[in-house]
Amino acid sequence: MTTAPARITLSSGGQKRTEDLFSPAGRDLVAGLWLEVSAQFRLMYDLTWLGIPIIQLPGDIVMMQELIWRLRPDVIVECGFAHGGSAILYASILELTGKGIVLGVDVEVRQYNRLAVESHPLAHRIRIIEGSSIDPATAERVRAACAGARTVLVVLDSNHTTAHVRAELDTYHSLVTPGSYAVVMDGAQALVAGIPAAKPEWKESHPLAAIETFLAAHPEFAEDPRYTRTLVTCNPRGFLRRKAIGEDR
Ligand SMILES: C[S@@+](CC[C@H](N)C(=O)[O-])C[C@H]1O[C@@H](n2cnc3c(N)ncnc32)[C@H](O)[C@@H]1O
Repeated sequence: MTTAPARITLSSGGQKRTEDLFSPAGRDLVAGLWLEVSAQFRLMYDLTWLGIPIIQLPGDIVMMQELIWRLRPDVIVECGFAHGGSAILYASILELTGKGIVLGVDVEVRQYNRLAVESHPLAHRIRIIEGSSIDPATAERVRAACAGARTVLVVLDSNHTTAHVRAELDTYHSLVTPGSYAVVMDGAQALVAGIPAAKPEWKESHPLAAIETFLAAHPEFAEDPRYTRTLVTCNPRGFLRRKAIGEDR
């Protein structure tokens, strides 16, 4: 017995698009829709990691776990600490590697977030740095804390305008050690700019535009699609690997 092929039709803005559900195009259509629904319903705001709120989608959490376990960094620089759940996630993987710290940078760390992280069992792997990520004084503190580290991973998840992300990339890319990554989060802002809850500026200003100009200017970095293979991701094109020394540019 054969079953009829499943088709999916999306009607939106007076246009219709139909795909075979079980084709790559159908899969990508559904993934894009689920990303939009996730953003509309703020599903990424509803998770915790070891008790602390984290603002990430489940698949993205798994991808960061894979990356950190593989790289075993000495320092993870995270711009955009928020409640601290992502720093706790990264610290929890570092703990299993037996080494490494997370530098959590945020322009404003609320007292209850600071207290929750500082009293967490993983607090010994986290240093909080309060200040704007693109302030030279903040960058200097980060740079000093990375001195002597063999492997540094940089994660950018703070202000998601094009200008800010590009400024962060300019400020921190040189800290990324060869073979490690600058992870630019929330490029999906551009992909969900059409949802009812979107902010008007998302269409024009987003991390994807910063990634594009940065990669054009920095052939020593290349996008690695491996860590966006869950498809429903806030971080499309966001895993920028610094090529190893001697690797073709
Ligand atoms: C999306 S949240 C970070 C989410 C967090 N990484 C997580 O996964 O749970 C963005 C954070 O960036 C911070 N932020 C905004 N502008 C900033 C700046 N100029 N420098 C540093 N942090 C900034 C905000 O205060 C906010 O806490």
